[in-house]
Amino acid sequence: MEGFEFTYRLKEVSDRFVDQLGEHFYLLADRFDPATLQQHTLFPQEMTWYYGEPLWQRLSNEQKLMLNRLCFCQSYLSTGVAEIAVNVLNMQSALNTILRGSPEVALYMAREVVEEMAHVQAFLKVIERVLNFYGLTFDDLRNANPSLRLAKTYVNGHTILGWLRGDLYYYYFTRFALNVNQKTVERSIIDEQEVHPVVQALLKNHATDEARHMQMSRATGIEALRQMKNPVVRVLACLGYARFAASIFIGRHRRDSRLTRETRIRTLELVGIDRKTAVQAYEQWKNRWNQPEDPALVRAGRQYFLRCNFDYIDDLPVAPWVKKRMKKTIFSAYADLPLPEAPADTAMKPALRGH
Ligand SMILES: [Fe+2]
Ligand SMILES: [Fe+2]
Repeated sequence: MEGFEFTYRLKEVSDRFVDQLGEHFYLLADRFDPATLQQHTLFPQEMTWYYGEPLWQRLSNEQKLMLNRLCFCQSYLSTGVAEIAVNVLNMQSALNTILRGSPEVALYMAREVVEEMAHVQAFLKVIERVLNFYGLTFDDLRNANPSLRLAKTYVNGHTILGWLRGDLYYYYFTRFALNVNQKTVERSIIDEQEVHPVVQALLKNHATDEARHMQMSRATGIEALRQMKNPVVRVLACLGYARFAASIFIGRHRRDSRLTRETRIRTLELVGIDRKTAVQAYEQWKNRWNQPEDPALVRAGRQYFLRCNFDYIDDLPVAPWVKKRMKKTIFSAYADLPLPEAPADTAMKPALRGH
């Protein structure tokens, strides 16, 4: 299948590790015993929602730890749900590809589905045990995370678009932003001292698989765009990507949706904070009243997201004005950061800065 030969190499790597999926994920997660939690965190400390805020200072040590661990649960429940959503689309792509393209490529697409299910199984196992430890149920967590339903919108949208277009190129083109977002959290956890060792090992294993999935998204995205022959469609796809990437965030984000807002507030309520205080704390945190700058780790994560997206855009087969417009859209949601260094087209910088 012309243009997608890079998947053969990715599949070779995957083949070497496929027999260890149990050991790397769900069997490893089985060794997580909440009785050994003690002072361990499960999520990068500085990435814990509300970290460093006046409300954070008022929380007891136990509440800080609980909030940190619930951030892990919410983040990885969202990740698990998103992974199942991309699995639906990966299998649709695999079906299209085995009917019309290369069986080898279809097999690699399906292989990622197998890997994602091992990831989700491991995450759910840890989440369930953490919730048990706090006397919470899965429903409590799910009710505090209304943004989960976006996964269905994502699948339905891409399915309809794929059906209309006859291919899922647009899905692969946009998936890259989701992968970068996921990788950012895991990059941040690698140097954390306090994270529970089983969870840290699990997240490192996940980062390894996802680095490959990210290579798949990046290379497929560029090739998928190339295969969109209509120039108008190509430009629309690019502008759509930029809007999508701008809505994805690490930490607090100018464009938090109503659903994200609710998730942050309700999770704080689970820690024992009353609704009114939780709403106020959210508004202060999100609007940067007390901490205009993010903690160093969050800032580095946001910078990484922006950098990866700008690099991806640089490599897309589209006109310079489209690239400039895409960068401007994404940067407008990340204006708390300096503009990444432009590797080649430095003339773009002043133009972007002005907005
Ligand atoms: Fe995964
Ligand atoms: Fe993945």
